[in-house]
Amino acid sequence: MAILFITHDMGVVAEIADRVVVMFRGKAVETARAYELFSAAKHPYTKGLLSCRPRPDRTLRRLPTVSDFMQINTNSDGEQEIIAKPLEIQDDARWEEISSDERFQRFEQLTHQPPLLSVRNLIKSFPVRTGLFGRKSEFRAVDDVSFDIFPGETLGLVGESGCGKSTLSRALLRLIEPTSGQIFFDDKEVLGLNASQLRHLRREMQIVFQNPYSSMDPRQTIGSALIEPMQIHKIGASNQERHRRAVSLLDRVGLPASAMNRARTNFPAVNGNASALLALWCYSRASLFAMNLSPHSTFLCRLRC
Ligand SMILES: Nc1ncnc2c1ncn2[C@@H]1O[C@H](COP(=O)(O)OP(=O)(O)O)[C@@H](O)[C@H]1O
Ligand SMILES: [Mg+2]
Repeated sequence: MAILFITHDMGVVAEIADRVVVMFRGKAVETARAYELFSAAKHPYTKGLLSCRPRPDRTLRRLPTVSDFMQINTNSDGEQEIIAKPLEIQDDARWEEISSDERFQRFEQLTHQPPLLSVRNLIKSFPVRTGLFGRKSEFRAVDDVSFDIFPGETLGLVGESGCGKSTLSRALLRLIEPTSGQIFFDDKEVLGLNASQLRHLRREMQIVFQNPYSSMDPRQTIGSALIEPMQIHKIGASNQERHRRAVSLLDRVGLPASAMNRARTNFPAVNGNASALLALWCYSRASLFAMNLSPHSTFLCRLRC
């Protein structure tokens, strides 16, 4: 038996593969034994891919991307070629590290504030029927969970599939009603809010789903997807101002104003666009809860417009 293992997860490749073929835009750009690839990658795309992985022992001020290592030029025959960027470009301030002292200080500062979100003993049970006669019982998808998130902090919530991450995130927003426990957001007890108070809270706390391509309405234009929540939450004095804000959001994620009139189906599904759309989704809310940014983690954050 032999296995062809297809993935973008370089960590898993390092663990299980004997040999690796790296593809870029339909071409195999590098083939190497796994240990050679990870110790001395040759192709700029592979070097970029390897550097894009966050490392626990070293935090850069900005995570490198493939475009720090290569650019694509069109030659005189109209063909695209990959050019490695010179090393001196790679040696600039982008590679500046955040020291462990600085990280420690930031953590101290963050956790000395009152928490923005406090979750206490949260339980969510679902009714289920078990046994031959379908006896009613309950299944605890979230069982007595407590944690705090401080203003400016990003909390990673991780666990195997089915451990309760999505149920917990939905319960925080009361998209499903928690069975018991307490949730405080900005000192307000979320479980005690009535419908109109809850609407106000949802202006402050929202979910961004993992895949912007499936979470955005395919027929809606990007412009209307941005303006609609502003109308609902009464952000901006007029539609003209909301339009101006939407254009400035597009600009912040590197998309042109012309994107306002395009539906998300008119965006080619390449990674750059996916991240721009996701960032746009994030920016488009006054503050947010973003969840499931990567398949194995749930990511909670608060951003300000
Ligand atoms: N509406 C529901 N009714 C019954 N069980 C549910 C319901 N929603 C989720 N569950 C169960 O709760 C558990 C946690 O699910 P989920 O929160 O989606 O996990 P995760 O997001 O960590 O993969 C799973 O066993 C799932 O089957
Ligand atoms: Mg989930």
